[in-house]
Amino acid sequence: MPRLIEVRNLRFHYEDGTPALRGVDFHLEAGESVALLGSNGSGKTTFVMHLNGLLSGEGSVEVCGLPVEKTNLPAIRRKIGMVFQDSESQLFMPTVLEDVAFGPLNLGMTREEAASAARAALETVSMAAAIHRAPYHLSAGEKKRVAIAGILAMNPEILVLDEPTTFLDPPGQRALAELLARLPQAKVLVTHDAALARSLCTRAVFFQGGLIAAEGPVEEIVNRFGWDFAGEPSKSAQ
Ligand SMILES: Nc1ncnc2c1ncn2[C@@H]1O[C@H](COP(=O)(O)OP(=O)(O)OP(=O)(O)O)[C@@H](O)[C@H]1O
Ligand SMILES: [Mg+2]
Repeated sequence: MPRLIEVRNLRFHYEDGTPALRGVDFHLEAGESVALLGSNGSGKTTFVMHLNGLLSGEGSVEVCGLPVEKTNLPAIRRKIGMVFQDSESQLFMPTVLEDVAFGPLNLGMTREEAASAARAALETVSMAAAIHRAPYHLSAGEKKRVAIAGILAMNPEILVLDEPTTFLDPPGQRALAELLARLPQAKVLVTHDAALARSLCTRAVFFQGGLIAAEGPVEEIVNRFGWDFAGEPSKSAQ
């Protein structure tokens, strides 16, 4: 069986010349969850945007054995679900149910099938009571759950979450961590939160200047880079 994700020597410049990725090698095995740690601007978001073809650099990116290129994008976007940091950007329909059903409808499900997949996904994220509400009236934590439901409704094999706990209060962060721990999918988790990385992932990679500077068990990477509280490396960082 191919690896879920296989990235080799990925390089990417933004149009203004910023070299955001400078030769990234990465893999994700079936059933694995990996934390992407690293300072602001080190390339984590740019990297994950290559996993479903939102950005395209030099090198090779494969998802479930499929090269990430135009002809494969519909199949790849079925296999890999992305939850962005800003849930607002992912919610745009008038009601929660329509929002979550949008992806399944796009995949070719009938209205009934899509609504049923959406209800099941909203059940999973404990938002079934909100189906008729307007997404833009929800709290940050509720929006995040609905955005995750929108992805789960498409039944992906891999979840990519870019800083899912930003904007959430401590109870909201704990509840989200519990929800994510219950989801069976393999995960790529971009986070500054060492506790979240520990609770969900067995392996971590550390981004630095557009490269993966180190990888290993979460605890080892967190200690090595002093990544033990949200946002900033500690004074003991090497
Ligand atoms: N649209 C853009 N145009 C030009 N440069 C960009 C753009 N987006 C990001 N960059 C630059 O690319 C580099 C990597 O940014 P990226 O957003 O991937 O970092 P990150 O690791 O996700 O950071 P953070 O922890 O702050 O989210 C940074 O130097 C950033 O300034
Ligand atoms: Mg980022």
